Amino acid sequence: MNGALAGRVAVIGSGIAGLVTALELAPRPVVLITQAGLGEASSTALAQGGIAAALAEGDSVESHIADTLAAGDGLCDAPVVERILRGTPDAIAMLVRHGVRFDRGASGFSFGLEAAHAHHRILHAAGDGTGAEISRALVAAVLTCPSITVLAGAQVRRLLTRDGQISGVLLARDGRAEVLLTSQVVMATGGIGGLYDTTTSPVSNFGQGVAMAARAGAALADMEFVQFHPTALALGQGRVTLISEAVRGEGAILLNDRGERFMADQPGAELAPRDVVARAIHQQIADGRRVFLDARQALGDRFAVRFPGIARLCAAAALDPARDAIPVRPAVHYHMGGIWTDTKGRTTLPGLWAVGECASTGLHGANRLASNSLLEGAVVGMRAAESIAATRTRPLAPAPKGIELPEAAHTQAVRGIVSRHLGIVRDGASLRQAMSELLPMGDDAAIVALSIATFAALRDESRGAHSRLDFPAQVARPSRRRMVLDDILRSA
Ligand code: SIN
Repeated sequence: MNGALAGRVAVIGSGIAGLVTALELAPRPVVLITQAGLGEASSTALAQGGIAAALAEGDSVESHIADTLAAGDGLCDAPVVERILRGTPDAIAMLVRHGVRFDRGASGFSFGLEAAHAHHRILHAAGDGTGAEISRALVAAVLTCPSITVLAGAQVRRLLTRDGQISGVLLARDGRAEVLLTSQVVMATGGIGGLYDTTTSPVSNFGQGVAMAARAGAALADMEFVQFHPTALALGQGRVTLISEAVRGEGAILLNDRGERFMADQPGAELAPRDVVARAIHQQIADGRRVFLDARQALGDRFAVRFPGIARLCAAAALDPARDAIPVRPAVHYHMGGIWTDTKGRTTLPGLWAVGECASTGLHGANRLASNSLLEGAVVGMRAAESIAATRTRPLAPAPKGIELPEAAHTQAVRGIVSRHLGIVRDGASLRQAMSELLPMGDDAAIVALSIATFAALRDESRGAHSRLDFPAQVARPSRRRMVLDDILRSA
């Protein structure tokens, strides 16, 4: 490794959280490490609906807080929710400063509606291309920022520690092991979609940052809470096309193949919280029905104007949402659990920060409110940068000798187990089966899957995205759970 990079803050990952952290650290030297090209393997670039921001006239942060707490189903950390959501105006101003062009109407920003929000408060760009626009602007800003060196095509395989603190990272580059010595690392590696058969996220993301942090001694939190997006296009496997919740926000309805509007009698109908809608669709499919999102009446020919990206994706599947109902099913979309952090991204391991989806701050509780994830990435990314800048660096440790690359993860084997046992509906026997199959495996994908299964087996209730057939009720005093890897292995 080029010795000139030693001692820089290492930011791993190039979604919104990693890019913001790197930019906000300027002029402090940063090395931004990404396994693909900048911004390429991130969920950010795929985000359609937008970024929640209670900035419209008549809206308030108090209302946004109330909606976040309600969707989180009793498990949000209320002070964390308040601290993060009060950061909204600064985060949006920062994104605009970096060149993000949100859609605007005659009187300012244009706000969309998504499930479980009491107000139209979703900022969007290019209709349904919000993530791509945020990614474009932040990547452009990074490329012209003199304090950031980008290391693309490099995979971080391990965190190195000395005396219980971060001392560097082990990288695979061109098949060779390289060590970067640093006392400050930021994990921004995204979610776990790649652990499942179908996901709206890049399949290359299977929770590697979570596994590395856990191996290095950082605590994990809320790992059992995996969010399924209700409406992915019901075609194919692997990464599947998302049909944004904003489409339901514009009035599209859910029908089964008998033409029944099965959400009509539920509170909130199609705009009930995401876990509720995903379970209802799952049940329809389990009963042998097919499910469709019908935007013909609500949008008709306006569909392609409001949602040009989704219209293009549908056209590639020979569907025209103005004329055809869109076949949908749930797919893994987001992980509420991850590396435990505070609202400044600080983990329990000195020298390690975590931001974005790989972190678990307590904002989302048991079920994330729509469009709160880009917001969290931006707010916590900014605060993590402040926290890092306020932390004294330590002298670099000597480089370890003869270090070898650990084996790559065997995601295919893990994917089958996870998809069978860790889906929308779970039960104790199935979770124990998953644990017994995963325990001997030991690679990074298996560690993450085992952690999800273990946390899920320990939560004897159904709450938010975690639904247990053998424990359908809720406990009276729920709490978040936090464990280090040794505890997880002991409990598995
Ligand atoms: C969507 O556009 O439906 C996704 C928004 C989100 O995941 O928050």
